Amino acid sequence: MTNEINYKRRNFLQHSAIGVTAAGLFPKLLFAKNSSLKSEPTASFKADVEIEIISQDAYVPIKSGRKTKVQKYFAKLLKGPKNTLVELEDTYLGPTLNYKQGQKVRIYYKNKLTEPSVIHMHGMHVPQASDGHPMYAINAGETLVYEFEVLNRAGTNFYHSHSHEMTATQVYKGLAGLITVTDKEEQALDLPRGEYDLPFVLQDRTLDGRNQLQYLRGMHGRMMGFLGDTIMVNGKPDAEFSVKTRAYRFRVVNGSNSRIYKLAWNDGTPLTAIGTDGNLLEKPETRPYLMLAPAERIDLWLDFSDRSVGDKLTMKSLEYEGAMPAKGGMGMGMGMSGGRLGQGDDFAIATFKVTKKVSKSPVLPKKLVKIDRLTEQDVDNKNNPIPIAISMKPMRPQLNGRSYSMDRVEDFEEVKLGSIKKIKIFHTHGGMGQGKGGMGNRRGMGMMGGGMMMSMAHPIHLHGQQFQVLSRKMEGRRQEEYKTVSEGFINSGWKDTVLVMPGEELVIVKPFQDFKGLFLYHCHNLEHEDLGMMRQFYVND
Ligand code: C2O
Ligand code: CU
Repeated sequence: MTNEINYKRRNFLQHSAIGVTAAGLFPKLLFAKNSSLKSEPTASFKADVEIEIISQDAYVPIKSGRKTKVQKYFAKLLKGPKNTLVELEDTYLGPTLNYKQGQKVRIYYKNKLTEPSVIHMHGMHVPQASDGHPMYAINAGETLVYEFEVLNRAGTNFYHSHSHEMTATQVYKGLAGLITVTDKEEQALDLPRGEYDLPFVLQDRTLDGRNQLQYLRGMHGRMMGFLGDTIMVNGKPDAEFSVKTRAYRFRVVNGSNSRIYKLAWNDGTPLTAIGTDGNLLEKPETRPYLMLAPAERIDLWLDFSDRSVGDKLTMKSLEYEGAMPAKGGMGMGMGMSGGRLGQGDDFAIATFKVTKKVSKSPVLPKKLVKIDRLTEQDVDNKNNPIPIAISMKPMRPQLNGRSYSMDRVEDFEEVKLGSIKKIKIFHTHGGMGQGKGGMGNRRGMGMMGGGMMMSMAHPIHLHGQQFQVLSRKMEGRRQEEYKTVSEGFINSGWKDTVLVMPGEELVIVKPFQDFKGLFLYHCHNLEHEDLGMMRQFYVND
């Protein structure tokens, strides 16, 4: 039912641009003239890389015994360097796509599922028509052509389903894969390469006694987000890595629906990050632990040089506080956070066994890449930041007091092409005024009607170009719990997703360059996204 309606609405959006109807009903959406489904390649676009990606039901061996029914991306390289496409074995994850900056990429996406779907290139700076906006979801049997030049710098991104109100279930069933980008600047650095540069996609799943995926039932669960009791790395439980006594690069992607990880070694050795959300850092950052919310990425420099053969280390997620509503709020205490493994619990992620001694290893560079720091001087709305106000009505998490609607853009969501904007992300509670004026500084205490607390942490993601974090501010009464996470945030690099803890306010600076059109912003807790915690910017002249 829902799917059908969405599909009709999408068709309407795609074809209504010229009509008078559009001008009356959707004055903001004249964009639609370039939004019709692209099912044929553009002759003038000379692709260096051509890939066919198919989404399809499949059975994969995850645990011993019965195979697990999943939805999976299968891909074929039609043109381009051989290492553009690397398969991961026995997993629901799609193959890793390895791009070089400057390449022109064409993707033929064919949907062979029994429901509509679309692929979003998370972290890639691409035109609207190749970004995977849910209005481009295609039905079974249809083809969607993506064409873009790789403008990104070296880093780790990913692709996943972004089907309207079905993102959570489709990603959960497997529709995701890793994207890497390399460039000259990265190649000039002595970073671990080849077999020493490895994916580390973190997800949680719940499998029943017959190895089949179990998902949430009911609204309470969706409000809290899905939390599985089996931790998967690259689509496998009980992950083990055999490593040599040298440095490795692990590309950690949090591909979970809702789970937030506090990554750390079991023996207290600090962790070193060399990249965040799709870009290398200016210089490595070493922390006792690192926080990783859904959709965030961290490139880890893991150095086993000082270890001995036979050593065994465990990558863990440590305990933390403050991400879930206080006990008693809305009748959803921690105990109901879904499954045996709660948000903020302590658990093991993967084991690393040192199995071979080698004498050579790259040395951690002191400097990585050049990052132009954006400041308030670069924005044109210093005193009038664009708001992203987080609120949670009962059963309805929202942004800016509104739920997602494909055909709606408010005045304050219109952004001039080429501009650089200051954006303020904060929590608000209860009703919000309409219009752009009313939402500046309202920050309540998180009390719902009846005095109940309903604040939780939200990973906020903005499509399009990456942004920089200018400031993070936490309200006084939450300082204690904030101390259990705050050292784990890396704010020095480019980001496209930030975790906003309850009571926290972030100011970010984001350029809106190169591409006109509709670009989403939403909570990347996928249950929240599907409940409508999503809006869009309309970038235009
Ligand atoms: Cu990875 Cu709109 O999301
Ligand atoms: Cu959320």
